Amino acid sequence: MLNDQVAIITGAGGGIGAAIAYALADAGANCVINDVVEEAAQTVADEVTSRGVKAMVDTSNITKEAEVQAMAAAVMEEFGRIDILVNNAGITRDGLLVRMDEDQWDMVLNVNLKGAFLCTKTIARPMMKARSGRIINMASVSGVGGNAGQANYSASKGGLISLTKTTAQELASRNVTCNALAPGFIDTAMTRQLPDEARQVWLDRIPLARPGTPEDVAQAVLFLAGPTSAYITGQVINIDGGLIM
Ligand SMILES: NC(=O)c1ccc[n+]([C@@H]2O[C@H](COP(=O)([O-])OP(=O)(O)OC[C@H]3O[C@@H](n4cnc5c(N)ncnc54)[C@H](O)[C@@H]3O)[C@@H](O)[C@H]2O)c1
Repeated sequence: MLNDQVAIITGAGGGIGAAIAYALADAGANCVINDVVEEAAQTVADEVTSRGVKAMVDTSNITKEAEVQAMAAAVMEEFGRIDILVNNAGITRDGLLVRMDEDQWDMVLNVNLKGAFLCTKTIARPMMKARSGRIINMASVSGVGGNAGQANYSASKGGLISLTKTTAQELASRNVTCNALAPGFIDTAMTRQLPDEARQVWLDRIPLARPGTPEDVAQAVLFLAGPTSAYITGQVINIDGGLIM
């Protein structure tokens, strides 16, 4: 389905990003595994290669424009094209609003929102030139409905949803689509760091009565990256077991 295409997945050293890389690789796409943790990125890249496509490891910090530009240049040099960008890298630094310090705010906004902006801005160029491309942003249900204890995170993901809609409007004439996914409670390192009571509060609210898996999210990315979603842009799809309706 995606044979010979090239996908860049940010924050792909584990969790949802790794599952996305495996799903795209299984569909035939060559994958650029970006993550600041090189060892984790290399492990995922080795697994991608074992699935019969090419993989490239990139350790750019997506909050630094020069590093993002170097990543794009290296990918164009190696593959000559970029078809799919998945802005997946994200972090949390939770705390109640009145106790949240400036560093907590800046770190989360930098990775989750500025990082996606820099990658989109940079990689949109070759996509526009090719008159083809798919950009998929990993938002969150927190960005749709807010979440107590996540002022920084929910603001970053709400911003990412607005960035998605603006990107979709600006790039549509060049046949580049941009959509967002809003996962709910997905079983990864990010949610495993929550205290047991907080995990249970989330689980009790999910109509489908289970946490999501990284593969649940990856299948939606595969759809948005593939030919059957060509007429969808500027949308947000919740993947949350019915948490938000
Ligand atoms: N797990 C969930 O329940 C859940 C729910 C909604 C949304 N999300 C979103 O899905 C995405 C993936 O989450 P996950 O649960 O797999 O988290 P994760 O912590 O397992 O993976 C995130 C990856 O991003 C990398 N990263 C962090 N900062 C980076 C930077 N500056 N440059 C490049 N890479 C960087 C990390 O090293 C890590 O490997 C995030 O955007 C997250 O906000 C997760």
